[in-house]
Amino acid sequence: MSEEQPVIFAGHQNLIYLGGLSDNFPRLPIDVQALHAEFERVQTAGPRAYVDGGAGTEATMRANREALDRRHLVPRMLRDVSVRTLTREILGTRWPAPLALAPVGVQSIVHPDGELAVARASAATGVPMIASTAASYPLEDIAAACGATPHWFQLYWPKDRELARSLLSRAEKAGYGAIVVTLDTWLLAWRPRDLQHAYLPFLRGTGLANYFSDPVFRGALARPPEEDRMAAVGHFLGLFSDPSVTWRDLAFLREATSLPILLKGIQHPDDARRAGAAGMQGIVVSNHGGRQVDGAIGSLDALERIVDAEPGIEVLFDSGIRSAGDLAKALAVGARAALVGRPYMWALGVGGETGVTELLRNWLAELDLTLALSGYAHVDELGRDSLA
Ligand code: FNR
Repeated sequence: MSEEQPVIFAGHQNLIYLGGLSDNFPRLPIDVQALHAEFERVQTAGPRAYVDGGAGTEATMRANREALDRRHLVPRMLRDVSVRTLTREILGTRWPAPLALAPVGVQSIVHPDGELAVARASAATGVPMIASTAASYPLEDIAAACGATPHWFQLYWPKDRELARSLLSRAEKAGYGAIVVTLDTWLLAWRPRDLQHAYLPFLRGTGLANYFSDPVFRGALARPPEEDRMAAVGHFLGLFSDPSVTWRDLAFLREATSLPILLKGIQHPDDARRAGAAGMQGIVVSNHGGRQVDGAIGSLDALERIVDAEPGIEVLFDSGIRSAGDLAKALAVGARAALVGRPYMWALGVGGETGVTELLRNWLAELDLTLALSGYAHVDELGRDSLA
């Protein structure tokens, strides 16, 4: 640990207090519930429902929260936390903290700069971004905005294998460091809030920039998307996913890219073990923020069962995280890193790039402080023993 630089994330707190001396106050609501309320206030009904909603009765969203709320940190005293670091090496790359931005599609529905704003916030803070296939901007532009900060590409595995190859090779060329393959969204779940507003952004051609800019996708169209958008949307709907895919088909992906691959949406220990056996480098334990299966297990409970099964590959986590304390709990249960979803969409919708940057600086500062005050100088010291 001696070679690592001490972190300065907590220093952000001092800057905020100092700002108050010259009547400079945070623009983004700091409390996450206040941030959410502000997001709801400034957005229109369709995007609001799309971001906030879940599957069915939204019991899985509640289970995600309940699994986090049921666990508690147990602070330890007198342990020298004067020099601290949150850094962690994930698949060969050093991250400033075990935190990344979850892949979230169609970000332009809450702010016109969408993924580009988030990528710039990622570059400003060093918090890695996972860019969605369903982005509002082409993956090359997002990668450029991420700069030197590590970034990964999330793949919605299309029915057309040549299109899959094309997306994977574009991601590799653009400098993405890993591929995250999402396995829980072969079909769009029953989502009452979206259904009530009859709102699905993709039908309007939003969130399809990676398809519309792809040579294989374009080559299959009679006329380009700029001339016949509805035909292009129709083509997308026909090839978005292939629900017939099984574990055997992973061999195709393994052969199609030399990048590390992580499977996102894993909830069962057996699936976690199979991911390793199939040559995958990691998994993201996730239930898509409760957006796919109503009545599913809280994701943190799934994480505990999976870590106990020792899958032998990198285990990341998401679903339900709303604070630095939640992050600390996920790390203590055994996640090597955690992803945040909706809260950064709220920050984007309220404050664009500066909103997301502010949110990430706040969370890094709070994570640093939470760990220090719990008696941990290094994030690796967190473990099951940190929880009750
Ligand atoms: C998502 N998520 C998601 N996942 C993915 O792999 N590709 C995608 O394009 C999207 N799109 C998306 C849109 C919106 C509006 C939301 C809220 C979520 C799921 C996302 O990566 C992550 O799993 C959850 O957001 C995590 O849960 P929380 O943090 O939102 O509770």
